[in-house]
Amino acid sequence: MDKKNLDWGKLTFSYTKANKMYVSYFKDGKWDNGKLVDEDTITISASSTALHYGQECFEGLKAYTNKNGNIQLFRPDQNAIRLQDSCKRLLMEYVSVEQFIDACKQVVKANEEFVPPYGTGATLYLRPFVIGIGDNLGVRPASEYLFCVFCSPVGAYFKGGMTPVNFITTDYDRAAPNGTGGAKVGGNYAASLLAHKEAVDKGFADCIYLDPTTHTKIEEVGAANFFGITKDDKFITPKSDSILPSITRRSLMYVAEHYLKMPVEERDVLIDKLDEFKEAGACGTAAVISPIGGIQHNDKMHVFYDLKEVGPVTKKLYDTLVGIQFGDVEAPEGWIVEIK
Ligand code: PLP
Ligand code: COI
Repeated sequence: MDKKNLDWGKLTFSYTKANKMYVSYFKDGKWDNGKLVDEDTITISASSTALHYGQECFEGLKAYTNKNGNIQLFRPDQNAIRLQDSCKRLLMEYVSVEQFIDACKQVVKANEEFVPPYGTGATLYLRPFVIGIGDNLGVRPASEYLFCVFCSPVGAYFKGGMTPVNFITTDYDRAAPNGTGGAKVGGNYAASLLAHKEAVDKGFADCIYLDPTTHTKIEEVGAANFFGITKDDKFITPKSDSILPSITRRSLMYVAEHYLKMPVEERDVLIDKLDEFKEAGACGTAAVISPIGGIQHNDKMHVFYDLKEVGPVTKKLYDTLVGIQFGDVEAPEGWIVEIK
């Protein structure tokens, strides 16, 4: 298969239209069989619940080319289950795990020319989403839904890739106690845009959200989860119901424990106690692992390992995780799904 003539190594996290996307509609109480379409536009009723009442949730996962030239997905079942959980939180209809994985596979196959070659560091990002559609006016769940998967070849999310980036805490909250922080719903991201802009305007890569109740504990790093490495080499990540349950973070906890033999703890991370960590990072599908150089909080900048260089433990975590995702390191059973 000939590849598109793109400068793969220079890709950023931005949208490039590919050949086809997948659409499936829920109507009269059931999902149709789904199909691939050429266009990347959709036509929906102006009264759709997605447009007015935020009935929208999405996923993000990647397709990787391994060194034999085969394409593989990383833990797509976990994304399928999380999309179901997000749909349930918003009273939306959801697709089965099988339909989700089949749709992702169809999209990758139909856009093979856009899957970045091995060794370029780039990947094909898949964006599955579900929206409430159909005619409606009152505040109630839609009776019709669209499940769609589109894709785009992408590079690093945070500028610099494995060069550390800096973050600043924000007074805004991303989520409320017992709110929708634990679900991947569009409304959370709408609420995050201003906090993100203010951080970027001040010269930071993104903002750090603190817990909405006390503003003393780290919750998330923009659109990624936080982890820290203590001075005695423990992998620590915040525990909270309003954090998005990151699949990357769950995978890193496993990698830290089983591959790097590190103790792993999910517990409170106090913003005033950052000196317990010698290294820190942001992790997510788009972010992969971005080393955190420093965090600014109340006019004080806390520097972790270094502002310019990645720390050795973060590097090992990155090499192992990315090695698994690209097929260079043996994966735990069930993590890799080859596209045949
Ligand atoms: N936190 C937020 C708010 C996110 O948007 C994401 C991205 O999906 C993550 C964390 C990381 O989650 P995952 O590793 O499943 O991509
Ligand atoms: C992801 O990592 O997949 C995300 O969803 C983060 C962001 C691009 C929304």
